[in-house]
Amino acid sequence: MLVAVTGSTGMIGSVLVSSLVADGHEVLRFTRSPSPGPGAARWDPAGGTIDSEALSKADAVVHLAGRNIAALRWTPKVKREILDSRTHGTRLLAETMAGLPDGPRVLVTASGINFYGDRGDEVLTETSPGGQGFLAEVCRQWEGAADPARAAGIAPSTCEPGSCRRHAAGCCPSCCRCSGSGWGAGSALAASGGAG
Ligand SMILES: NC(=O)c1ccc[n+]([C@@H]2O[C@H](COP(=O)([O-])OP(=O)(O)OC[C@H]3O[C@@H](n4cnc5c(N)ncnc54)[C@H](OP(=O)(O)O)[C@@H]3O)[C@@H](O)[C@H]2O)c1
Repeated sequence: MLVAVTGSTGMIGSVLVSSLVADGHEVLRFTRSPSPGPGAARWDPAGGTIDSEALSKADAVVHLAGRNIAALRWTPKVKREILDSRTHGTRLLAETMAGLPDGPRVLVTASGINFYGDRGDEVLTETSPGGQGFLAEVCRQWEGAADPARAAGIAPSTCEPGSCRRHAAGCCPSCCRCSGSGWGAGSALAASGGAG
């Protein structure tokens, strides 16, 4: 199977690509890089362009791309980038796939557990309604941006990860800088060789 992956250079994407290749699949990485290199194609979610000919050859698409939410302080500008980088990219993929008669019919898009907001001890399932707050709203719009694919009969699957970390992935210095809470400390422990 040929799997197109956006955000393939990221923390989850790089592991996913290795795993797909190890399982015998071919991977076509979509990147914003001006020189994508072998096995990759170019897209520009902000500018609304994508190599649709390359996309049409894929059997499935996994969409992970989006502005990293942990790297910077959330100024209004950064919040706008966090939202737009997800909704624009998802809509571009969904619309492009919808317009490809022989293109991929499988679309898996990332979202986040933040969809549910902070609900304390409430038990949440996949049928629970979305919550409140900035990231919940980002996830709601992000998932909704796949509507053009739904309208074309492609049923997108949404993956809502919790907090994924890799040993020495480098996210923790900024977590700890932003947070004096137990969450930041817990992340640092996990990334330095604990739960990972
Ligand atoms: N890691 C987690 O704990 C976690 C939890 C819940 C949800 N998620 C979601 O899962 C997805 C993958 O997570 P990750 O941790 O692997 O992310 P990541 O390491 O931040 O990588 C995201 C990738 O998206 C692309 N990207 C970066 N800035 C962008 C922008 N402004 N516009 C469009 N694309 C941009 C980059 O790929 P190119 O430079 O190659 O284009 C980058 O490699 C993200 O959407 C994230 O929100 C992650």
